Amino acid sequence: MTVEIREYVEQYPGQTPLPLRAELAAAIQDLKRSRGAVILAHNYQLPEIQDLADYLGDSLELSRKAAATEANMIVFCGVHFMAQTAKILSPQRLVLLPDPAAGCPMADMINPSQLAAFRAKYPGRPVVAYVNTTAEVKADSDICCTSANSVRVVESLPDDEVLFIPDRYLAEWTQKQTGKRIIGYPGFCPTHIPLTLEMIQEARAEHPQAVVMCHPECRPEVSEAADVVASTSGMLRAARERPDKEFVIATEWGLACRMAKDDPAKRFYVFPDAVCPNMKRITLPKLLASLQDTIGEIEIPPEVLEQARGAVERMLAVV
Ligand code: 13P
Ligand code: SF4
Repeated sequence: MTVEIREYVEQYPGQTPLPLRAELAAAIQDLKRSRGAVILAHNYQLPEIQDLADYLGDSLELSRKAAATEANMIVFCGVHFMAQTAKILSPQRLVLLPDPAAGCPMADMINPSQLAAFRAKYPGRPVVAYVNTTAEVKADSDICCTSANSVRVVESLPDDEVLFIPDRYLAEWTQKQTGKRIIGYPGFCPTHIPLTLEMIQEARAEHPQAVVMCHPECRPEVSEAADVVASTSGMLRAARERPDKEFVIATEWGLACRMAKDDPAKRFYVFPDAVCPNMKRITLPKLLASLQDTIGEIEIPPEVLEQARGAVERMLAVV
């Protein structure tokens, strides 16, 4: 069952109560200026956070912003691996994640010893690490990618066979687009895999005029059934560019909040259970407390950071 995002979002219990929002937002803007901070936010963040972001984007866009910023401090509203990537690319800056417990279960599905065992099973192949990995795992990988550039990254490698960690479904989708053999690690996103083909078929029956979009972390049969498969910002661009008026958004519903704000004349239907609880941990009171008391500083041992930077920078050089 889908719901229209504007009708749904105000009932979401995780939001800051409405009367407090304007006051907290003003205090955050003041502190942000006085501390010389920049706020980067992922497309899955609550609208109250999206509204305050200096830059809103997908993992790739936010990595580029982190690398280019001249601010003293980056406050990253997203999950831990994203804030770590910002630190890897901007090691001289203070990087804060307003709730240090905002992790990514997919990123935690592989650690360095599991990666070593995977490499040993398939020797001689390069390891492409989805950016949804810890800094330690990136440090042991050859190159990173995001969902926006996985095809270009894999095609940039001279090898016909590559190892891909940790998302089995992004691996499978990328293999279909490249024609290379991709050996995927059996990780997955707990927010995307509950979306089934039956749910997509039901949504099409409910909204026959709608364009169906999904993230490549979805199951292969869901990606096959969608009209557009793209990163979060790729879906946003498609919603902007297409003349259609209705869209079913098969990914975390935070993205549809951005789409609806962007184009109030269009309707965006989401699956209310497609929520990433970690993304939704970041709220206005936590953002304010983080800026006020320097909560959630990202620290990475220098040798890990240097090694990981190689894999991230090789990715940024591809696109
Ligand atoms: P994007 O890079 O497409 O924004 O996706 C990040 C993510 O974690 C998807 O679940
Ligand atoms: Fe991780 Fe999935 Fe949340 Fe993305 S949506 S941050 S992959 S758990």
